[in-house]
Amino acid sequence: MMLNKKVGLALAAMLLAPVAANAADAPKAFNQCKACHKVEAGKHGVGPSLAGVFGAKAGHAEGFKYSQKHLDSGMTWDEASLSKYLADPKGTIPGNKMAFAGLKNPDDIKAVIEYLKTLK
Ligand code: HEC
Repeated sequence: MMLNKKVGLALAAMLLAPVAANAADAPKAFNQCKACHKVEAGKHGVGPSLAGVFGAKAGHAEGFKYSQKHLDSGMTWDEASLSKYLADPKGTIPGNKMAFAGLKNPDDIKAVIEYLKTLK
């Protein structure tokens, strides 16, 4: 009986391991975003959900109250615009309400954008 339980647990751990690895995909730099952003569709915090943001227009998330400046920015979120915005949110869209100084390290910006691409 004890042995069976152990074998069962080991099997369960093996089956669950790949799932856990996927969930841990977020790059370290994304920890700074988590204070305000959720990655599940339709779930907002201080900032809008980031699900499906890559390739979308600024103001993409339903049910989040964006600032007018953000909505008027006319941005489409691709690699070029996200690189600019994440390095300097205030400078890229003056008057927007994302209270974040920006990511300074270009490798972090790249890693975060790659991660955003995976959020559907
Ligand atoms: C202090 C809270 C806060 C932090 C930290 C923050 N954001 Fe934001 N973010 C916001 C808010 C608020 C908005 C909406 C801006 C507006 O409406 O003016 C926003 C908007 C965005 C948008 C545009 C979404 C859309 O639908 O147009 C993206 C992309 C984004 N943030 C990514 C990030 C990433 C990536 C990080 C981490 C590197 C981050 N944010 C950190 C609060 C935050």
